[in-house]
Amino acid sequence: MATAQATARTNIALVKYWGKADLDANLPAVGSLSMTLDGLWTTTRVSFEPDLARDELQLDDQPAPEPARQRASRFLDLVRQQSGRTERARVVSTNSFPTAAGLASSASGFCALAAAATRAAGIDLPAPDLADLTRRGSGSAPRSLLGGFVELRPGDGCQVVQVAPADYWDLRLVIALCADGPKAVGSTEGMERSRRTSPYYDRWIDDHPADLDRARRAIAERELPALGRAAEASCFKMHALAMSSDPPLIYFQPATLAAVQRVWHLRAEGLVGYVTIDAGPHVKVLCAAADAEALAAELGRVDGVRRVMIQAPGPGVEVAA
Ligand code: DP6
Repeated sequence: MATAQATARTNIALVKYWGKADLDANLPAVGSLSMTLDGLWTTTRVSFEPDLARDELQLDDQPAPEPARQRASRFLDLVRQQSGRTERARVVSTNSFPTAAGLASSASGFCALAAAATRAAGIDLPAPDLADLTRRGSGSAPRSLLGGFVELRPGDGCQVVQVAPADYWDLRLVIALCADGPKAVGSTEGMERSRRTSPYYDRWIDDHPADLDRARRAIAERELPALGRAAEASCFKMHALAMSSDPPLIYFQPATLAAVQRVWHLRAEGLVGYVTIDAGPHVKVLCAAADAEALAAELGRVDGVRRVMIQAPGPGVEVAA
């Protein structure tokens, strides 16, 4: 049978992607740079089946909500186009973390879907073509194709480049979950709103290459303070765009700000971590491996923080027949 399975880890952007150059083609307007995580993953099995009337998506043992099924189905149309297959597919996907909780499930989700669906369809795309196909599903997803520190470079399409492998630098991301349940406004809608309405959008686009340079250089020199400061700058610029959209978008919860303040306070006292926040309330803290446990314990004591996880740099996508 035409079936294959892939496991992709999620990734967290240190230099953020926010804004699309082309909405229909899902082409990011800016590059981005992320760390692939070792312990937060999606495993997806795709089977093309002649008897199916439509694409079916099961997510964590449940039929997926209709918008998610349709989004996956539109992506599978691209795979059918490229492979010449016509059957509909059964997709069974499991996340090791809460879906849509702001932990970038679309990154690992579409990366695993792209890798499994192309293999199941019998096409072995060269890496650049697979990256470009994957970003049609989600702009952050191609970064999960590779392990360690990964840069996405948009152009005509999108390419991903491994800036450094997972074992290059013993860093950790400490993740503080600052709310339960899914986020209110997804990143696709949020970044479109920012592009259309934020007065700062053009400046964001203009500054972005310098932000990427800064992060790339910090990684090359293994300079945590430089990388951390670049990550914080990119994060809060992105959130400034969200907040300056019309209507405004605030992804923070009270616990989000309390966690940020705690990290900054601890840093001033010598326990060094740097924050980043995506389109959701959770706070991710970049730090040296040796400081991760202490930071996790501190964050666990912040009011409103539900749970704390420690993540190391992880590997790229793995595909099995
Ligand atoms: C804030 O990749 O989820 O996490 O391309 O519309 O699927 P789509 O957006 P998505 O956006 C990620 C936004 C971010 C920053 C980042 O991961 O770079």
